[in-house]
Amino acid sequence: MAGTGVFEEIIDGEVYKYYADGEWKKSASGKSVSIINPTTRTPQYKVQACTQEEVNKVMDAAKAAQKLWARTPLWKRAEFLHKAAAILKEHKNPIAECLVKEIAKPAKDAVTEVVRSGDLISYTAEDGVRILGEGKLLVSDSFPGNERSKYCLSSKIPLGVVLAIPPFNYPVNLAVSKIAPALIAGNALVLKPPTQGAVAALHMIHCFHLAGFPKGLISCVTGKGSEIGDFLTMHPGVNCISFTGGDTGIAISKKAGMIPLQMELGGKDACIVLEDADLDLVTANIVKGGYSYSGQRCTAVKVVLIMESVADAVVEKVKAKMANLTIGPPEENCDITPVVSESSANFIEGLVMDAKQKGATFCQEYRREGNLIWPLLLDHVRPDMRIAWEEPFGPVLPVIRISSVEEGIHHCNASNFGLQGCVFTRDINKAIMISDALETGTVQINSAPARGPDHFPFQGLKESGIGSQGITNSINMMTKIKSTVINLPSPSYTIG
Ligand code: G3H
Repeated sequence: MAGTGVFEEIIDGEVYKYYADGEWKKSASGKSVSIINPTTRTPQYKVQACTQEEVNKVMDAAKAAQKLWARTPLWKRAEFLHKAAAILKEHKNPIAECLVKEIAKPAKDAVTEVVRSGDLISYTAEDGVRILGEGKLLVSDSFPGNERSKYCLSSKIPLGVVLAIPPFNYPVNLAVSKIAPALIAGNALVLKPPTQGAVAALHMIHCFHLAGFPKGLISCVTGKGSEIGDFLTMHPGVNCISFTGGDTGIAISKKAGMIPLQMELGGKDACIVLEDADLDLVTANIVKGGYSYSGQRCTAVKVVLIMESVADAVVEKVKAKMANLTIGPPEENCDITPVVSESSANFIEGLVMDAKQKGATFCQEYRREGNLIWPLLLDHVRPDMRIAWEEPFGPVLPVIRISSVEEGIHHCNASNFGLQGCVFTRDINKAIMISDALETGTVQINSAPARGPDHFPFQGLKESGIGSQGITNSINMMTKIKSTVINLPSPSYTIG
């Protein structure tokens, strides 16, 4: 159970502590932040409201610990990570329980998130050993006018302190996708978890604590964005920010200093369906891609662009499959669970009402109870409707009928987002040409968008982000190149 057994020390009364300098601490603010359970809509957990002074201390400790960590042998850093991965997997159930209560993730998916995170940490440790164990040797005489008198040795060194800010929908997995590469590369890590998901993240951090990482190297501060949000992202002690979330990332990018940024800021992933597609495959992927975790994935299918000639058939098939989706509490492992907050539910409802007013065809009746929104397919959506462009982050999916592939590509490329897209066709040549034409970081052929497997590159164009993620890219991104140039004596020098 959360907060018990090995996790007993991370809670004080009913408030979870924050993690700094290798210890679990209470904030001097004496204040806490409540986490509302999306299903019951009542307070579930409380976390510390950390102060700016506490952030300063965390940054100082991180800076000091990083210097020693960078000199810790690479194989040893990997060993720590493997240990943390094993501990995390061993305690998957209490951590998954937090995900169920804090973010209403279906119970089975919550366990999968933790296990996937353990695997991600181990893979990162292995990948890091290989990537960081290699350097480069350059010789000077390949550049015009130079003798062979200079040897340049270059290798990858850490950036310093990495600030990781994951989103509510994967508070464990998208945290470790930042933590593990940062640590293997020799950086210190400060985690600011999302408020909803913070308790799961604190449990996950305790697994790193139990693995025995040096004091101060890893910290986790919780609290109000208004108090410590900007303070963290603009802190002079931060050398890199890895953020996943909404358009707050754009604001962070504008305010952050001259440091590397890794940003993943959502998407409006299109599913383009051609006339020759396997319609059963399309149907399965629209339902899974559009409605899993109630559409609260940046890689969810967020708009279907379908050729008119097959639209009726696919809409009917999707409607039939949607009828099998179970709707209810995450504890019962339902497919559709309450969305994360009331404000999120209200936003989704706003998009639905706009589409209704503008004449979209409702394939099901719109239904909402509290934060629980029944899955909805909206047909005959037109570009003047908000839902054609905005990201609902909920179980509501628009269908736009198109009369040419070009129309689909045009709609997709007119979006502010550019995360992923997918195309369904049996014609591989067409699929590749469409992939080339789409302005997105990834295009999936004959499958719904997805980030994983976690070692694949993952990146967004336009307002979907900066930089590339995926294990290898993250390790590289959290390092910089250091060169040592050996200058040989002048050519007149003779040996002996
Ligand atoms: O929500 C954003 C995530 O990066 C999506 O990850 O494709 O594994 O669900 P996923």
